[in-house]
Amino acid sequence: MNIRPRRNRKSAALRKMVEETKLGTEHLIYPLFLVDGSNIKDEIKSLPNNFRWSLDLLLKEIESCVNLGIMTYVLFPAIPEKDKDKTATYSYAEDNFYLHAIQKIKSTFPHIVLMSDVAMDPYSSDGHDGLVENGKILNDPTLPILSKMAVAQAQAGIDIVGPSDMMDGRVGHIRESLDINGFTDVSIMSYSAKYASAYYGPFRDALDSAPKAGDKKTYQMNPANKREALIEGELDVLEGADMLMVKPALCYLDVIHLMKENFEVPITAYNVSGECAMLYAAAQNGWLDYNTAMPEMLLSFRRAGADAILTYFAKDFAKLNR
Ligand code: PBG
Repeated sequence: MNIRPRRNRKSAALRKMVEETKLGTEHLIYPLFLVDGSNIKDEIKSLPNNFRWSLDLLLKEIESCVNLGIMTYVLFPAIPEKDKDKTATYSYAEDNFYLHAIQKIKSTFPHIVLMSDVAMDPYSSDGHDGLVENGKILNDPTLPILSKMAVAQAQAGIDIVGPSDMMDGRVGHIRESLDINGFTDVSIMSYSAKYASAYYGPFRDALDSAPKAGDKKTYQMNPANKREALIEGELDVLEGADMLMVKPALCYLDVIHLMKENFEVPITAYNVSGECAMLYAAAQNGWLDYNTAMPEMLLSFRRAGADAILTYFAKDFAKLNR
């Protein structure tokens, strides 16, 4: 035997030297859930260790995460049912607590990167990402609503808007509206290849945002399709997206790889709530070792080609790598 691959694995130092994929806290984006009120830290039952925070406690939480080295966050609002309507008007209302929180977080921590969610579902009485009429999700009438939402978030000081709705043409519409309003520096991370997945369950519990009727299959992608992700990605790049996202991540490693090979912009992967919940559950049962299985899962997204990862594991990973 003149070729022995094991020689390159003979010590920890050598293994580290020839390591192909790097994973650090700087690659992670931490999703946080916001509720109106004060002194609230409400655990999400289907997503242990993750909470709906009121702004006062959220500011403290962000401070502790910043101290662990987490510099990028995505914020999702849990909107009370009374503020929901068919056209998601609360999403750009003057007194919107989410917009106020963006302002406060960015003025308290000017150096962090804060990303928003642009989609109707948290604010929609129908629980859909677009306008619903006679059971249909309307595409073009949804676009101005998304743009108003994005401009309101930009006014509040957001760094990146994240359209997660999957309407056709929304990236271009949002880009134009941001630019006309003077927000040429606000970035767009587009949820480009977002699949109609069962793995969003705990997230919908967190926001109470599940569709009231029907499903999301006329706008989110069919899990069976891969080449279609290239159409979505190309459109988003041409419409002005700065980064493309694949979502979910774990069941879609091939799609992450495909996007990385085909586009020059950064590719991000959303390690969604259901994927994290599975691992939490296995760990709680003693079936998997959380502290080794969790970083292994995150590493797989980087190996597949993700430049950055949205993950509920961000804080735990940061603690392990302190
Ligand atoms: C909705 C949205 C969803 C997620 C992020 N934005 C759920 C959905 O499309 O129904 C899911 C994230 C997760 O599961 O962690 N615009």
